[in-house]
Amino acid sequence: MSDPDYTYVTRDFEVLTGEAARPLVEKTNDRQFLVDDGGIHTVTVDRWKLAQDAERHHWIDLRPHVTDDRNMDHAFMYDRYGALSEKTFENAIELGCGPFTNIAVLAQVCQIKRLTLLDPLIEDYLGHQNCLFRTGTLQANSGIMVPVAERVALPVEQFEPKARYDLVVMLNVIEHCYNVPLIFRKIWEMTEPGGLVVFHDRYFDHEQVVREVDRIYDAAHPLKVDRKLIDGFIQRFEEVFFRLVTTHGYTVHSGVGDQVYFVGRKPVTAWE
Ligand SMILES: C[S@@+](CC[C@H](N)C(=O)[O-])C[C@H]1O[C@@H](n2cnc3c(N)ncnc32)[C@H](O)[C@@H]1O
Repeated sequence: MSDPDYTYVTRDFEVLTGEAARPLVEKTNDRQFLVDDGGIHTVTVDRWKLAQDAERHHWIDLRPHVTDDRNMDHAFMYDRYGALSEKTFENAIELGCGPFTNIAVLAQVCQIKRLTLLDPLIEDYLGHQNCLFRTGTLQANSGIMVPVAERVALPVEQFEPKARYDLVVMLNVIEHCYNVPLIFRKIWEMTEPGGLVVFHDRYFDHEQVVREVDRIYDAAHPLKVDRKLIDGFIQRFEEVFFRLVTTHGYTVHSGVGDQVYFVGRKPVTAWE
């Protein structure tokens, strides 16, 4: 399949292509954020805020009836979170949890004693009719209830945790953030030695990003992180689960392209 020509995804998630998209992409694109060989891993806070405005609009205005953000697909790719089965976590956090969370699915196989949910839009999500934690308790699909001890309405980049977590979950978030190297450092620091990180996202290749940055703009997804950066992050952990899903062809839409599903343990001997 050949690459598409110009594509411009608006704040309303309308996909314009060809000559309709061309003048818009020529005027607005993310080329200025390309770095070294890392794809686009850092943007300004102003660019991030535009993306977050689109994300809020997506869930609150355009998708009020939706009940899931591919959370069951993720569980399927993780073999229903068998790697966490029968474990007990004292202090768990989901980063970029969205309105539905992945912990609602994952909590079916393990026990979580204290749960923190973080998302810059978390207070807006309480207004979504299908938000799974709007009562203050996360309602897992199986009927299991997990009290939410803390809601944090911040980006990970600005989060200063008071304690370490023995379970850190972050699925399908980094395309939406503004500083991935900082986020990877924060995740490492907030994970207790011996604790688990559940991480899923999409791999980009720097060369692909270079080829496409002048032709494709996606308002809600500012970051396109080269796989080397992601691999460098996950390789710091001891592998518990790894699955690479490769799809052929290309589309700008989130969820398509090479994807990594990872569970890792922070070595108990880690000191930094
Ligand atoms: C595609 S949604 C995924 C939600 C959830 N992880 C899921 O799988 O259902 C991406 C989420 O990342 C959040 N987000 C954006 N920037 C973030 C940041 N810097 N730190 C943490 N979360 C962020 C957005 O507000 C949005 O809720």
